[in-house]
Amino acid sequence: MRLLVTGGAGFIGSNFVHQTVRERPDVRVTVLDALTYAGDRTSLAPVADAITLVEGSITDAPLVDRLVGESDLVVHFAAESHNDNSLNDPSPFVQTNVVGTFTLLEAVRKHGTRFHHISTDEVYGDLELDDPAKFTASTPYNPSSPYSSTKAGSDLLVRAWARSFGVQATISNCSNNYGPYQHIEKFIPRQITNLIDGVRPKLYGAGLNVRDWIHVEDHNAAVWSIIDKGRPGETYLIGADGEKNNLEVVRTLLEIFGRDAADFDHVTDRPGHDLRYAIDASTLRDELGWTPRYTDFRDGLEATVAWYRENEAWWRPAKAATEAKYAAVGQ
Ligand code: NAD
Ligand code: DAU
Repeated sequence: MRLLVTGGAGFIGSNFVHQTVRERPDVRVTVLDALTYAGDRTSLAPVADAITLVEGSITDAPLVDRLVGESDLVVHFAAESHNDNSLNDPSPFVQTNVVGTFTLLEAVRKHGTRFHHISTDEVYGDLELDDPAKFTASTPYNPSSPYSSTKAGSDLLVRAWARSFGVQATISNCSNNYGPYQHIEKFIPRQITNLIDGVRPKLYGAGLNVRDWIHVEDHNAAVWSIIDKGRPGETYLIGADGEKNNLEVVRTLLEIFGRDAADFDHVTDRPGHDLRYAIDASTLRDELGWTPRYTDFRDGLEATVAWYRENEAWWRPAKAATEAKYAAVGQ
């Protein structure tokens, strides 16, 4: 199988490429990645000899048309992915997430290529803290930020291309991932690298917002289940029942680092900050037989801390600039 992975030099995409090379020797992988600030060639270094990396944008229609024409399957991870950045400058989010997805859809339509679209639970908006409900595939779309609204727009394009043009597409909406190779602008690696540097973790607002954490390996195994067994045109929600509020996550990290439980700072909250995400993944479990392997969050977090300790050369170059950006807005 000839597989095109967009955004394969980013966090989830690079883990997906590693997993694919490790477990599926019959798959020939090409990565298309613009190598933005969030993409890193060295994230693919362990598999560099087994794959082809093309540096380019998913908005480049002739390039996309050529690469899609040479592929049997496209798995589309490429995106601008950080909510805080989307509040500062939404423009690249519209370009990459909406126009880039449109460009890919036109190419898969022309070439009849199978397409899997990677999306987020944030398209559903947020839930109250005391609401027993979880997101399901029939929850109405209600995105809050420029990031999540552009992801919602991209999902709707995929649905329309599947229905109107018969594109063989599936969509997955996953909750918050953690694990190796995640950019240090994101919550967990930011706090891990702060703690390695002896800096106190930074909690937005009161720290009571809830995220539904899943290990990146479990997300990517679910994506392969959908590719192998999912029904074209369907949307699958991916989550591992990992709800935690941000304060709990910071306290667990402080414990792992042997620091005092009160050793963190509250900083300026994110405007429009979604309260709670929670995924009902029963379709994925019941219909496709997927189950998560990383069921102990603390174990997964310890392994992630160990990875950031062992791979300082990977994240250190981005640390000062990332923190300077946060400091400028009181975070
Ligand atoms: P990331 O920011 O770590 O990686 C994004 C990658 O896309 C980078 O390698 C970047 O260089 C590349 N890219 C950006 N613009 C591009 C363009 N125009 N053309 C080609 N490549 C481009 O993101 P991530 O956290 O790995 O997220 C990957 C996907 O998963 C995104 O679609 C995101 O919406 C979705 N998602 C993320 C999470 C999460 O918790 N991180 C959860 C659910 C869904
Ligand atoms: O739910 C899936 C989404 O998860 C993905 O679609 C996004 O691509 C991904 O970035 C993530 O979005 P969040 O906004 O939830 O993730 P982030 O890591 O930015 O923040 C997680 C929570 O931690 C959120 O409530 C904000 C808070 N936070 C974040 C940072 C960076 C802090 O309290 N302090 C921080 O320093």
